[in-house]
Amino acid sequence: MALTSRLPLLTIGAALLSAGCASRSPAPAHAPAHDEPFRPQLSFSPQRNWMNDPNGLVYLDGEYHLFYQHNPNQNTWGDMSWGHAVSTDLLHWTELPLALPVEKDAGGKITQMFFSGSAVVDHANTSGFGQPGKPAMVAIYTAVFPQARTLNGKLVRAGTQAQSIAYSLDRGRTWTQYAGNPVIPAPPAQYAAEYREFRDPKMFWYEPGHKWVLATVAAQRHKALFYSSRDLIHWEWTGEFGPAGAAGGVWECPDLVELPVDGDPARRKWVLIISLNPGGPAGGSGMQYFVGDFDGKTFTRDRAAGTDADAPRWLDYGADFYAGVTYNDAPGGRRLLVGWMNNWLYGEKVPTAPWRSAQALPRELGLRTVNGHVTLVQQPVAEAQRLRSRLLFGTPAQTIARGAQAVPLAGAARAPLELRMILKPGTATRAGVRLGKDAVTEIGYDAAQGVVYVDRTRSGATGFHPQFAARHTAPVALPEAGLPLRILVDRGSVTVFAGEGEAVLTDQVFPTTGVDGVSLFSVDGDAHVRDLNVWSLNSIWKEAQ
Ligand code: FRU
Repeated sequence: MALTSRLPLLTIGAALLSAGCASRSPAPAHAPAHDEPFRPQLSFSPQRNWMNDPNGLVYLDGEYHLFYQHNPNQNTWGDMSWGHAVSTDLLHWTELPLALPVEKDAGGKITQMFFSGSAVVDHANTSGFGQPGKPAMVAIYTAVFPQARTLNGKLVRAGTQAQSIAYSLDRGRTWTQYAGNPVIPAPPAQYAAEYREFRDPKMFWYEPGHKWVLATVAAQRHKALFYSSRDLIHWEWTGEFGPAGAAGGVWECPDLVELPVDGDPARRKWVLIISLNPGGPAGGSGMQYFVGDFDGKTFTRDRAAGTDADAPRWLDYGADFYAGVTYNDAPGGRRLLVGWMNNWLYGEKVPTAPWRSAQALPRELGLRTVNGHVTLVQQPVAEAQRLRSRLLFGTPAQTIARGAQAVPLAGAARAPLELRMILKPGTATRAGVRLGKDAVTEIGYDAAQGVVYVDRTRSGATGFHPQFAARHTAPVALPEAGLPLRILVDRGSVTVFAGEGEAVLTDQVFPTTGVDGVSLFSVDGDAHVRDLNVWSLNSIWKEAQ
């Protein structure tokens, strides 16, 4: 859903909520069970209420911070605040009190909301917000003012989106808004008419220029805008990129990351990541990326010879991976991506309560040359292997005769599960795995189309939106030795990493009976699997922190 249509709804919703409703959710006094049907067991979801984009991903003193777009009062979008959770291992999360709660006047009308943004640790105290031995954590976010008001003596029009900052001296627990906000009141003059749609600043330290850089968007113009700053307070516009690739919907949540190509530290490329809504590869929200260079001022895209230079390159081909951004300061220089596991098309209707939406399990990004093209590859963070509990089934090689064969899983076969295999379709036109018996999610390789796919048309509860029941495909080259597949099966989702991670699909599924079985299938011929392993995974909510 475009934000322009979400805003008026939100204002009505907020008015209805009125003063009687406390706007802060208290921190849980004891660890909540997180054990409801469809509750993700492998990645974070808030105990209660609505969540969307990950925000302010930053590492400090042993903690990975996850801030997120949160409605603390309802299980649909509204009252946008920054929720907060922390983890020491990217797997187990502790939900903390709100970091930046929505602001309302005495009549209950919203005066300020906190849209998406990012956070850094100001190690060198460039902002002056820190104290000796205590660097400030500084967040930049889109401040949204639904009603006209004055701010620092200036009139702000109703619906303004401006970039503001806040800082914390206690590891993100409490925040002070900068008195001179907003720090970027409007986009460059030629985009000023877009005042409603100027948002999602992602900032990071740019070492070659000894400065801070940020990417933000003029959403309806399909432009990423780049800014620089010496102190996190004064920002100068330095360049822009777009429209390019897919521009069917608004551009949101940009990110810019530098990565070595094929693991060679001497060969580095920049990747510009853009979320797009609608117009994604599976309908509704989607994410695309561009590979190129960043000179400290602007991004220039590589034009690979012999390719359709403007064909979009999708980061995830499933329906449920959006607004993904990377961590600042992750140890070891790792590029870790977290995305919202939902879609604006039906996000507010998914059948979960008392919460809605999870963040996907964090992924590590890389660049690899695949078929001559520098390509983004993704894998679940290595930490995820620690969740493996028992090997339920393993075989070095097996033929899948035409038809379907149950995988004999020792003991409980309910999600969460991890499946790994190398799939050779052989003479089959389609082959792969089916999850569940009555409610079935099919994951396979389609030889005629040359795609890996997730088919959720019969996956359980699908009727809440007409476009949910669908099959999603990702083109992938089939190596001679077979296609490596890694599949994470959670209570409310499946995620497929194919090849080296160049084709990824993230899909929510709601199997009302749970995942009560796994089978291998092959259509029109015989297929083969090698190194098939199925593990049960521990729930992140059940292990001690
Ligand atoms: C993306 C988005 C952002 C915005 C936020 C509002 O999902 O629309 O552009 O900042 O959600 O909650």
